[in-house]
Amino acid sequence: MNQSQERIVPAAGLQALEEDIFRKLGFTEEGSRLAAKSLVEADLRGVSSHGALRIPTYAARVQHGVVTTDGPLELIADHGATAVIDGRHTLGQIPGTRAMELAIAKAEEYGVGCVGVCHSHHYGTAAYYAQMAAAKGMVGMSMTNTAPLMPPLGGLKKVVGTNPISIAVPSRRHFDVVLDMATSTVAHGKLQIAAKEGKPIPLGWATDAQGNPTTDAKAAIDGGFLSPVGGPKGFGLAVIIDLLCGPLVGSACGDKLMPAARFFSAPQNCGNLFLAIRISAFRDLDTFLEEVDAYIDFIKSCPTNDTVDGVYMPGELEALRREQRLCSGIPLPEAVVRDLCELAESLGLEPKSYLA
Ligand SMILES: NC(=O)c1ccc[n+]([C@@H]2O[C@H](COP(=O)([O-])OP(=O)(O)OC[C@H]3O[C@@H](n4cnc5c(N)ncnc54)[C@H](O)[C@@H]3O)[C@@H](O)[C@H]2O)c1
Repeated sequence: MNQSQERIVPAAGLQALEEDIFRKLGFTEEGSRLAAKSLVEADLRGVSSHGALRIPTYAARVQHGVVTTDGPLELIADHGATAVIDGRHTLGQIPGTRAMELAIAKAEEYGVGCVGVCHSHHYGTAAYYAQMAAAKGMVGMSMTNTAPLMPPLGGLKKVVGTNPISIAVPSRRHFDVVLDMATSTVAHGKLQIAAKEGKPIPLGWATDAQGNPTTDAKAAIDGGFLSPVGGPKGFGLAVIIDLLCGPLVGSACGDKLMPAARFFSAPQNCGNLFLAIRISAFRDLDTFLEEVDAYIDFIKSCPTNDTVDGVYMPGELEALRREQRLCSGIPLPEAVVRDLCELAESLGLEPKSYLA
């Protein structure tokens, strides 16, 4: 363990442990592999809010019967370049991966593929799916809705989720460009950390219970609200994502959508939308990749002041972290490792043998 109460764990061991936990919970071999892969990728890229940390909640939701483990996915609409998969309330990573694979196959054939998932559940990071398309020389896009966490501007009730979107564009010499963002300024967890440490939060992160911008993390938590990124623009984007992941694919939106954390009475019923665009249907792929690389060179050549150590593209810091963690292991908070090990032991596994 290092000084900051973290434990370094190997990516392969973490993947094996998570897969076995999912198998013990009743998921198929394949479902277990898909779910674990998305979570390990999040921890490799440093998006630890969407990695191993989530597994105890997923397990509790399975044990309460609001996440299913055995229902086969069903293709409920299929029209040329578009399709809809019924996720049957299983972990969103499973139909999500299948939906993006189908979108990629459709883009191979038609130039573009767009696949929705209804009756889904928390699917991890939006980037995971967008990157699948980029790895195939395509532009990828992925989005999901969540239970309401933000009010409209000036509103005093949560009406729209932190609905994230990711868009990935492949390059050749550089890392793929991967924008992956929630539509709230920050995740709720950042308010909790600031409140715990008694530190002020920057104006713009959240409001108090009366909807006034606040620097007081505790006021934001006690009845206050997360703010959308960029005010009305982030709010508008969150609304559009709710409509594309709800009514368009046949899942819930707004307050019909249930929380996926600390709530065990009903399936989440979120929706997801995946888009793949085959670049070679527009123009020569090699020419495109050369131009993307030249563009990245141009952006990264921007002079900087001394507040930063250089210019990074969207997704670059995560890609650098991933490279480093694949070699030297993933630092996970000790509490996350402890909870994961306790869950594994309760399922009859010996977690120490995986994480050595
Ligand atoms: N499944 C769900 O229900 C759900 C809901 C909300 C968020 N999420 C996920 O949460 C994760 C975190 O979202 P977030 O909005 O907090 O992300 P973030 O604020 O950490 O990053 C947003 C974007 O900014 C880029 N970025 C960050 N620092 C940069 C820098 N110095 N230079 C250039 N680019 C930089 C990142 O690469 C990323 O593309 C995402 O993976 C998102 O998909 C999931």
